[in-house]
Amino acid sequence: MQLVRLIYSSQLKANTNPSELAQIHNTALSHNPKNGITGTLVFGDDRFIQYIEGGRKEVNHLFHRIGSDPRHEEITLIDFSEIMEREFEDWNMKLVLLSESNQKVLRYSPNGSFEPSRMSADTALHFLRQFR
Ligand SMILES: Cc1cc2nc3c(=O)[nH]c(=O)nc-3n(C[C@H](O)[C@H](O)[C@H](O)COP(=O)(O)O)c2cc1C
Repeated sequence: MQLVRLIYSSQLKANTNPSELAQIHNTALSHNPKNGITGTLVFGDDRFIQYIEGGRKEVNHLFHRIGSDPRHEEITLIDFSEIMEREFEDWNMKLVLLSESNQKVLRYSPNGSFEPSRMSADTALHFLRQFR
């Protein structure tokens, strides 16, 4: 099986209740194990960055589903690469909620706001690896 990782960022739609987050996470936890998907979903300041890894076909299918999900917009692909092994093998989808004072964010946000769509692929990877 060709193992790949995919990283994208997006913006919660203005009319989406943030309580939808629990719903999204529950869906991920129920779907991902059967699709062999692992990763992390980071949320802060109404923005997402998600790291998805698994078989190439499964990751593509999931990204297409996520891409047409009406609860978010401005979906920006940051990285799609083949990988030798998983980095989040213990997580069917780890949800991380960021707070403004979170030092892990501030290190990657020189102007103090969380803007994942502006991260390079390298920066995004370093940022996400902190949550393993
Ligand atoms: C930010 C975000 C992250 C999501 N992550 C996942 C995920 O990891 N796994 C998953 O199955 N669905 C995820 N979803 C939900 C999918 O978009 C979709 O609603 C879900 O897979 C159900 O699809 P279906 O109705 O075609 O079965 C996510 C949605 C959003 C908005």
